[in-house]
Order: sequence, then C-alpha cells, then structure tokens
Amino acid sequence: MTEGAHDDSLQPNNLARWRGATALVTGASSGIGRAIAWALAVRGVRVVATARRSERLDNLVSRVRAEHPDADIHAYTCDLLAAGAIDQMFSDLSRRFGGMDILINNAGHGRGAALIDGEVDDWRNMLDLNVLALSHCTQRAVAGLVARGVPGHIVHIASMASHRVPRGGGMYAATKHAVRALTEGLRQELRARDLPIRVTAISPGFVETEFAEVATGSTKKARETYARYPCLKSEDVAGAVCYALGVPQHMQVHDILIRPTAQPD
Ligand SMILES: NC(=O)c1ccc[n+]([C@@H]2O[C@H](COP(=O)([O-])OP(=O)(O)OC[C@H]3O[C@@H](n4cnc5c(N)ncnc54)[C@H](OP(=O)(O)O)[C@@H]3O)[C@@H](O)[C@H]2O)c1
Repeated sequence: MTEGAHDDSLQPNNLARWRGATALVTGASSGIGRAIAWALAVRGVRVVATARRSERLDNLVSRVRAEHPDADIHAYTCDLLAAGAIDQMFSDLSRRFGGMDILINNAGHGRGAALIDGEVDDWRNMLDLNVLALSHCTQRAVAGLVARGVPGHIVHIASMASHRVPRGGGMYAATKHAVRALTEGLRQELRARDLPIRVTAISPGFVETEFAEVATGSTKKARETYARYPCLKSEDVAGAVCYALGVPQHMQVHDILIRPTAQPD
C-alpha cells in the first residue's frame, strides 16, 4: 500500500462481508435480541430468530418482511432449557439453512434471588440459561463452522454485571462474570486451533426491555427501574453488535462496555 493511501475496506461497521451469511439470534422475541435480529436482517444477513414465544417471533418476522421485503428472516421456536432442544435446533437449522455463520448468544435473564435467602431454583435457572445454554449453543455453532471450514463470529450478550456486582444481584453477576470468562476462554481455544472464528462480548448497562419485569415479577417495579434516568435502547446494543461484526477479519472486538450516560454505578 502506498504511503497516504486509504484502504476503505478497513472502515468498521460494514456488514457487506456477511451478506448471505446466516445468523442465529437467541432470545429474539423481545428486547435486545429482537433489535439485533431486526438490524441484521435489514443489513442483508439471513436471520434465524429463536425464543419460546412463537407468536412474538412470527410478529417480528412479518413486521421485518413488511418493511423490508428483501429481508431473509425466519422464526424457530425453542426452549433452550428443554432436554435435547439445543442439539435438535442446530440439527434442524443445519438441514434447513446449511449451518450458522454467526451466533448471537443473547437469551438470558435475571432473577431477584439473593445469595443469603434466595431460591436455589432461581439460581439454577440463571446458570442454566445464561451460562450453560450459551456454552452449549457456542459449542454446536463452532462445531458446524469447523465442519464447513468457514469463518464465523460468536457474540455473547454479557452485561455491566460481567464487570461489577450490582447490589442484590450476586448470582446474576456470577453468571455474567462467567460469560466474560467464557469469552476469553473461547478466544484462547480458537487461537490455539488457528480457527477463523472471532468471539465478542457486548456488556450493556440498563437497557429498557422486559428484563426488569421478568427479574422482579412486577410491571410497576420495572417501570420505576426504567424511569430513574434515560436507559439504553435495545437498538443501541444492536448497533454495537453490528460494529463488532463489521470490523475487518484481522481485528477482533473483545468486549464493548456501554452504560446509559446517566447510570451512576
Ligand atoms: N435489559 C438490560 O438492562 C440488560 C443489561 C445487560 C445485559 N442484558 C442481557 O441481555 C440479554 C437479553 O435481555 P433483554 O434485556 O433483551 O431481556 P428480555 O426482553 O426479557 O429478553 C430475554 C429473551 O430471552 C428469551 N428467553 C428466556 N428464557 C428462554 C428460554 N428458556 N429459551 C429460549 N429463550 C429464552 C426470551 O424469550 P421467550 O420468553 O419468548 O423465550 C426473550 O426473548 C440477556 O442475556 C440479559 O442478561 C440485559
């Protein structure tokens, strides 16, 4: 390259390289996952949106297709915690679409389960979904990429709770600290095998979604949580995912921390 020449392909946020690739987005029936599925589909990536609530997924697919008739987006109903469901999903998707190039590990939840007197079942549920289902999906996605010999990208939706412990959220933070460790652990294994697969964590602070209602079991408490200051929008997080996917292959975005400007902790 001559001195002073500008290589435009080095400009980030360019999803052209993923046009025609297939992305599996977990937890796509609401909030952050829905926004990511939408953002990728309208940028030319084929999207498989998965979650348990099939009517929500169908609504997403029909709305995206109505606004963007060229979008290639599909729904796949799956409870990631049901026995055998993850293996079944990857087998079905491989038959139907020939494999996943991008995996967005977004499905996750918090439960108001204190360490001193919280419900052990709530701890288990968070660990099962936020850590084990994410790891199982990752293993299946990487196996498919290796078998096909193609580049891929795994994105974990982590949290600011991967980096600090929010008050009362000890077990949730433990699951999200685990996601941070799993990001670096996967990166090391991918490098050791010299695979053309990248891994990225995105670590948001408060995002206004159904998360707080699921965590507290109360619409009122959820409203109060999100009324304290302007929170992030799901689309803000989707933008960070697009950025990480769009950077050139020689560059790996490891983790993006994003807080609402007004979030104090
Ligand atoms: N909102 C925040 O402030 C915030 C901040 C940092 C990180 N995060 C992380 O962002 C991710 C998405 O959360 P969100 O805020 O968008 O919350 P959300 O609106 O409650 O979305 C959670 C998604 O997970 C899916 N899900 C839950 N259990 C599932 C299961 N057993 N099988 C398959 N899918 C399941 C839900 O779909 P169904 O109920 O239809 O299955 C839903 O689509 C989570 O990993 C969360 O920890 C959120």
